[in-house]
Amino acid sequence: MDKLIIEGGERLDGEIRIAGAKNSALPIMAATLLTKSPVIIRNLPHLFDITTMLELLGCMGVQPVVDEKLNVEIDSSTIHSFSAPYDLVKTMRASILVLGPLLARYGQAEVALPGGCAIGSRPVDLHINALRLMGANIRVEDGYVRAKVDGRLKGTHLFMDMVTVTGTENIMMAASLAVGKTVIENAAREPEVVDLAECLIAMGAKIEGHGSDTISIDGVTELNGCTYSVMPDRIETGTYLIAAAATCGRIKVKDTRPDILEAVLLKLEQAGADIVAGENWIELEMRGRRPEAVSLRTAPYPAFPTDMQAQFTALNTIAAGSGSITETVFENRFMHVHEMSRMGASIKVEGNTVFVDGVDALRGAPVMATDLRASASLIIAGLVAKNQTKVDRIYHIDRGYECIEEKLQLLGAKIRRVPA
Ligand code: UD1
Repeated sequence: MDKLIIEGGERLDGEIRIAGAKNSALPIMAATLLTKSPVIIRNLPHLFDITTMLELLGCMGVQPVVDEKLNVEIDSSTIHSFSAPYDLVKTMRASILVLGPLLARYGQAEVALPGGCAIGSRPVDLHINALRLMGANIRVEDGYVRAKVDGRLKGTHLFMDMVTVTGTENIMMAASLAVGKTVIENAAREPEVVDLAECLIAMGAKIEGHGSDTISIDGVTELNGCTYSVMPDRIETGTYLIAAAATCGRIKVKDTRPDILEAVLLKLEQAGADIVAGENWIELEMRGRRPEAVSLRTAPYPAFPTDMQAQFTALNTIAAGSGSITETVFENRFMHVHEMSRMGASIKVEGNTVFVDGVDALRGAPVMATDLRASASLIIAGLVAKNQTKVDRIYHIDRGYECIEEKLQLLGAKIRRVPA
């Protein structure tokens, strides 16, 4: 297994470009199953999760074509299987996103049940309940979700018990081809949900209210192909901004969207960063100052994203003062804490809150990545630590960060990948 070796202590300084958003690319790729016409997707990030989704489409008989600019054309008319096997689902839970489209267009779907994962149990009951209310017959058996519907799904009024991002996306895709109107109350407002809605609209779907907590979808009989460019990745953007702040450095991130990062930028300003932004870029400068510790609480968008809390925990470990970080979206999302304490952080977990007293410096150590965002936080910890940090199990990071060591090298970090 590859490892990342980091010689910490360098101040980051430079410019990088942000890739397309993983969490919007994945549902958009699943949405291509809703039409018999080709869909061209631009600005796809080069990530392991994207390869897994391409592989999943491939094993159903769909043959995505990648051009020289790495745009992908997906023509699902050759589909011959409606099943997402466990081997793929276990490496990427977002595989559940094919459930709604397959059911809506082909009246059948079989998707392996995603198991527990490093950040909690993460069930898919809300996806299943909503599709049942739309008329699907769903059995959960032999580790699979087996769904069927006679004719088309039926639009209905849904009240979601919890805000679920992929749940909202699955229902929105299914409802696009249902008979009549579907209303999703307590829908996720995440920008990635909006991006998927915009792509579906470009395919001919009738959707309103995306970006608010009530989305209505008037089902149509057919969707067409389109060309769609995936929005920039706000979590990748935030991760590099935090890395620069933690190292007392400076960074300009380009091809991004400051308007969807407000909660994160506010916390970075509280940490002492000077931030200037244009329409598609953000510049952060610490002027050599040590960051101040911040306190925050994660919640669905537009509140502070759960996918950024581990990175802020890393910043707090070397900040001036004390900060507390409360996780309200997922249980058990503090796996990085034990690794950071092995690097000399003064850190403890009580319930769903992690308390950190900033120390002057961390010490490099061999650490192990446990999930995608936890891996990013360990890299930030490695960048601020004295001497060498070795991050193991970095396949987690390759799932969600495109060429992370190359981008960090561009910013002046001493980081290299050591093949297994
Ligand atoms: C998506 C993102 C992930 C992000 C998360 C929260 C993708 C591919 N992944 O994950 O990066 O961390 O949103 O912003 O977009 N829940 C249930 N039953 C369900 C569905 C969810 O109880 O049927 C619970 C989950 O266990 C969790 C909460 O709802 O506690 C939110 O999860 P959800 O928004 O569904 O996360 P994902 O869509 O899996």
